[in-house]
Amino acid sequence: MQNKHLKIATIGGGSSYTPELIEGFIRRFDELPVSEIWLVDIEEGREKLEIVGNLAKRMVEKAGLPISIHLTLNRKEALQNADFVTTQFRVGSLDARAKDEKIPLKYGVLGQETNGPGGLFKGLRTIPVILEICQEMEKLCPDAWLINFTNPAGMVTEAVLRYSNIKKVVGLCNVPIGMEMGVAKLLDVEHSRIRINFAGLNHMVYGLDVFLDGVSVKEQVISLITDPKSSIKMQNIVALGWEPEFLKALNIFPCPYHQYYYKTKDMVEKETRNAETIGTRAEVVKELESELFELYKDPNLSIKPPQLEKRGGAYYSDAAVRLITSIYTDKCDIQPVNTINNGAIASIPNESAVEISSVITKDGPKPIAIGDLPVAVRGLVQQIKSFERVAIEAAVTGDYNTALLAMTINPLVASDRVGKEILDEMLEAHKNYLPSFF
Ligand code: G6P
Repeated sequence: MQNKHLKIATIGGGSSYTPELIEGFIRRFDELPVSEIWLVDIEEGREKLEIVGNLAKRMVEKAGLPISIHLTLNRKEALQNADFVTTQFRVGSLDARAKDEKIPLKYGVLGQETNGPGGLFKGLRTIPVILEICQEMEKLCPDAWLINFTNPAGMVTEAVLRYSNIKKVVGLCNVPIGMEMGVAKLLDVEHSRIRINFAGLNHMVYGLDVFLDGVSVKEQVISLITDPKSSIKMQNIVALGWEPEFLKALNIFPCPYHQYYYKTKDMVEKETRNAETIGTRAEVVKELESELFELYKDPNLSIKPPQLEKRGGAYYSDAAVRLITSIYTDKCDIQPVNTINNGAIASIPNESAVEISSVITKDGPKPIAIGDLPVAVRGLVQQIKSFERVAIEAAVTGDYNTALLAMTINPLVASDRVGKEILDEMLEAHKNYLPSFF
């Protein structure tokens, strides 16, 4: 692929995150000669696509780079001969996310977009669409890499691996890079001096060890993050801190999403209070988005505005473009990605997607084998993997009983009866985006 001028197709191009991605391509242009970026969206997203697309054009113009930005509602035109396809779409937009967050809370169950019932429904809405994109890629750009940011990223990556003919797929999340940056900030050092050995699943990833200049600082980091004030923070998740004795016994570094599993009651209470006061995260993000799009409209704006950092996806451009660059240049550096397990974690099936530190080559990520996860977390990770697999099967078949099975085996759902009530209400609420169920 080297020395070729690259075509990128970004599905969900009207997203408010697009300036992040464009900034990433501008920064790494010397290593990654992108010549065309095609931003694709659907009719409902036309206005946003125009606004954010015009900002993208101003950004590359200001940078003085020969990258052409194309805006289209025609996905096939964008996919034709693409080298990298990035996906960042949200089926049903933020309104659907708000339902994922609010409905489970009525039943005392966590309302969140990638965990519990919300994660299940985001998967049910998204998987049929990603599989359709894969079929188009097979015809229009069979050699392209699919870099998926669409949530639930681990489930989507596994669905592609199991149910499509696209094998060149990598799922990407900003949580690991956010954890590294968070540690760097806690220790007041440059990010480049920190390395974390990651293993687990998307939004269920652990830092098995943490290094500063190659020397383990895991114990120090574990002590620091027990204090909520120095927890690793993400804009979209409240940090409640940890019981020091628990974290010391766990002896690995949890990600912010683990609070939903290890502090379920506290998190449900917190999310319920938020929903009643400031609104759920989708509602907060909706306001933030309208502010952002107002800024994006300004013809004098030609950089990514700092306000975008209030979104949970901070550093996502860095992670995305760093990954694409390493595939293109066969860099063989280590990055945490969602990829096929292939035996890297013994207790997870070979053909499942895991989130793990991997060597990034021109043939894709090569996960670094860890042996197995510590026994204290192995069961939970396996349970979530089972949930993901059953959820994917429900998405592909549109089968009610399979969806109920996925709902009930999720550790955040307390009973089959409550699971069924939530399922029924959510199916009805998301009906327009779940054609295979109706
Ligand atoms: C983090 C997660 C992403 C998620 C995002 C939400 O970055 O890793 O998976 O999409 O937060 O951020 P938002 O600002 O939309 O709440």
